[in-house]
Amino acid sequence: MCGIVGYCGPRRVTPLVLEGLHRLEYRGYDSAGIVYPGPDGKLVKYRARGKLSQLEAVIGDALLSPATIGLGHTRWATHGAPTTENAHPHSDCTGDLVVVHNGIIENYSSLRLELQMRGHKFASETDTEVLAHLIEEHLEGDLPKAVRAALARVEGSYAIGVMWVKAPDMLVAARNHSPLVLGLCDDGGMFMASDVPAFLKYTNQVIFLDDEEMATLKNGSFQVTSLASGATLNKAIQTISWNAAMAEKAGYKHFMLKEIYEQPQAITNTLRGRVEVQTGEITIPEIGLSDEQLQKIERITLVACGTSWHAALVAKYWLEQYAQLPVEVDIASEFRYRHLLINERVLTIAISQSGETADTLAGIRRAKAMGAKVISICNVVGSTMTRESDGTVYTHAGPEIGVASTKAFTAQLTALLLFSLYLGQKRGVMSAERRAHLVKSMLDVAAVIETILPKTQAEIAILVEKFYTCKDFLFVGRGLSFPIALEGALKLKEISYIHAEGYASGELKHGPIALIDKEMPVLALLPLDDVYQKSVSNVEEIKARQGRLILIGSEGDEQLMAIAPDVLYLPKIDAALNPLLYTIPAQLLAYEMAVRRGCDVDQPRNLAKSVTVE
Ligand code: AGP
Repeated sequence: MCGIVGYCGPRRVTPLVLEGLHRLEYRGYDSAGIVYPGPDGKLVKYRARGKLSQLEAVIGDALLSPATIGLGHTRWATHGAPTTENAHPHSDCTGDLVVVHNGIIENYSSLRLELQMRGHKFASETDTEVLAHLIEEHLEGDLPKAVRAALARVEGSYAIGVMWVKAPDMLVAARNHSPLVLGLCDDGGMFMASDVPAFLKYTNQVIFLDDEEMATLKNGSFQVTSLASGATLNKAIQTISWNAAMAEKAGYKHFMLKEIYEQPQAITNTLRGRVEVQTGEITIPEIGLSDEQLQKIERITLVACGTSWHAALVAKYWLEQYAQLPVEVDIASEFRYRHLLINERVLTIAISQSGETADTLAGIRRAKAMGAKVISICNVVGSTMTRESDGTVYTHAGPEIGVASTKAFTAQLTALLLFSLYLGQKRGVMSAERRAHLVKSMLDVAAVIETILPKTQAEIAILVEKFYTCKDFLFVGRGLSFPIALEGALKLKEISYIHAEGYASGELKHGPIALIDKEMPVLALLPLDDVYQKSVSNVEEIKARQGRLILIGSEGDEQLMAIAPDVLYLPKIDAALNPLLYTIPAQLLAYEMAVRRGCDVDQPRNLAKSVTVE
């Protein structure tokens, strides 16, 4: 999500920074910019919307500048559309200080208001720009000191690079919950970057900054200090043994696996700045609907395709329970052509990672034409869907490169549960205690997923040896686990090409049970929830017909081991959040199966990341 490259040293900076930005392209971006000192010492800034080639076209001959210090940035929009004005670097009022930033400043709106009241003029809609003005306020000749003082006011996540005209040979870097790494070259040159590939061609000697650390790079030497205490830190220099391709994936074999492992961060980022832990109060200012409009809603229609449709199926349970509203879920390609009964009291929620899916777009256009209000749950700022909706709840999952949607799905679930609780809060139909408990559980689930990931992957890899030659697979679940069974089946078929179906466990008897024999693998989701006993009965029926069961259930549930030899345990959490947790083994199963079968994990045959045709 966004890319930072900074350099100071003996070489010319512009080609180095641009090369570094190209190497970070895999992170996804929608605008880019670069800054370096011109011949008169003033900062020269170039920015462009779109791809780096557009920035290069704007830069032109400046590529030949003799400057040897500078910063570059690729932006993945989070606050403000992907325009040239919103592209980084951002400047203070004088234009003498610039900042590039990755992450989300949670308290930016209150800081912006405060700064504006003191006379600061803003030139963009970004959260980042407050940093430039905040640092400006603290500048008394000492740049690192001013950066530290400014960051003390900031809540949220950041990796930043800062330059100031009056410290012409210095770069300041700092991080909190967003990656930043320093690269140290033999010739005294030094890089800062969001990821190692940006400079791996020039050095493999790196220092990974940790949270709440700041680095000052100047004249071939560097100092790392604690943002909290100001004390100098002794950081270890590490030698990277990856090649450039490995480094882009941060050492993971595939983007899909990297994105599976990024889910705790995606969930945390989607909640960031929107929940108050103590009270369970939820704020979603970008919703685009007034409280009065929210009160008037009588029904909700959820519209989406593929994995996003599965998120909608989960959300139906949450919205009905917490917002107490009737909910319909539609596949967008069906919704757009069926006889709709929609009016201004029906809220349509479109769910899409890309925000460009043709059928979902057509669906929201129809709903709008019939007078409905439309909200998008979307991962791409400024995408067509977000522009055409009355409001958007962004999922801050960061760019998803693998065709199989993973972190976007869990971020969608997070946004949808958040929205369900928000509606419950606004409509006064759910208890504040229950809401506060669920908010806390949502914040906790990221850490739970973080802990189970490596263990679950190892267990699944063993399981896959038994099952990778199968031709068919069934996934079953009840209640909130039913859409996850569908999602597990979709993941498996799309990347491993194994025929797979998902069913509501209670539906087996109505047909699919005829498929069960000793060859048929059936993955059953069995969390300890309010339909647990019913699910166990269904699994017994599969066992009685010699189906090859894989059970996924709650830690401590020994009954499961008596039913089947292959059992995977997950921690017991509030049952409302099980979809977030039980998705993980399903994703990992599809991943490990695909790898074992030698499939192209990140770019499966016949599929596109964004389906922009009907
Ligand atoms: C999921 O793994 C697929 N890539 C696909 O089903 C996807 O979710 C669907 O095409 C919808 O895309 P969207 O979320 O970008 O609208």
